[in-house]
Amino acid sequence: MLELRDVHVTANDETGTVTVLQGINLTLEDNKIYVMTGPNGGGKTSIAKTIMGIYRPSRGKILLDGADITEKSITERARLGIGYAFQQPPRFKGIKVKDLLKIAAGNDDNGLHCDLLYDVGLCAQDYLEREINSSFSGGELKRIEIASLLARKLKVAIFDEPEAGIDLWSFQKLTETFAGLREKYRGTLVIISHQERILRLADRVILVSGGRVSEITTPEKFLAEIEIVTADCRCRTDCIKGEVANA
Ligand SMILES: Nc1ncnc2c1ncn2[C@@H]1O[C@H](COP(=O)(O)OP(=O)(O)OP(=O)(O)O)[C@@H](O)[C@H]1O
Ligand SMILES: [Mg+2]
Repeated sequence: MLELRDVHVTANDETGTVTVLQGINLTLEDNKIYVMTGPNGGGKTSIAKTIMGIYRPSRGKILLDGADITEKSITERARLGIGYAFQQPPRFKGIKVKDLLKIAAGNDDNGLHCDLLYDVGLCAQDYLEREINSSFSGGELKRIEIASLLARKLKVAIFDEPEAGIDLWSFQKLTETFAGLREKYRGTLVIISHQERILRLADRVILVSGGRVSEITTPEKFLAEIEIVTADCRCRTDCIKGEVANA
């Protein structure tokens, strides 16, 4: 179980110090799928980076199975079984796909590596021997990173917008893969996503906005609320009225 207790994060940009997260409280249980969603700039990636140790809280605590990991480094957290697939993956230049999967899985099992690539919609024959470099498309890179995270036996796996830049066919495969993880996976799965099909896989949907967790609910309730908000949106009607008035 992973807990965030009153976690605050600040960052410095050219305008000075900005508050990124303010008082995040979250309890993420084992064997559960959480989908984190919310408006752009709401703080989802920042929560993921804080869990991974890339961002350090200015206040608050992070606990993994009851042990305080707030001061642990990224490497130590990775060793403890926390993994994060970036929204924009870095390029591990000069390493072959099969070697990346070998390092991630901790074994040389070619069959497993083929399965992992299949799970993200890539054909092993075309990719295993390829060296990761600038010839890879954004979507290919993203799927290879997801495959390498799937290879690890993680306690907490966080996928940041896995659907971003991925074609419809691969997205279909990826959704099936995440759905299948419910049976296979013993850890906590956190998927940051804006996609309804991913949201429907969740045990709990976590809504993040303005650097806070604004709601934790079921996918059904969340999707029903979205329909109400969309139906209630007066901007367009007002805008059309304005246009009519100006005509
Ligand atoms: N290192 C940083 N320095 C300055 N501001 C930051 C930093 N990291 C995050 N922020 C700001 O914090 C806010 C939350 O950003 P974050 O990337 O967590 O949002 P998000 O919910 O993942 O958005 P999206 O849906 O667009 O991916 C944004 O306003 C962002 O500009
Ligand atoms: Mg983000």
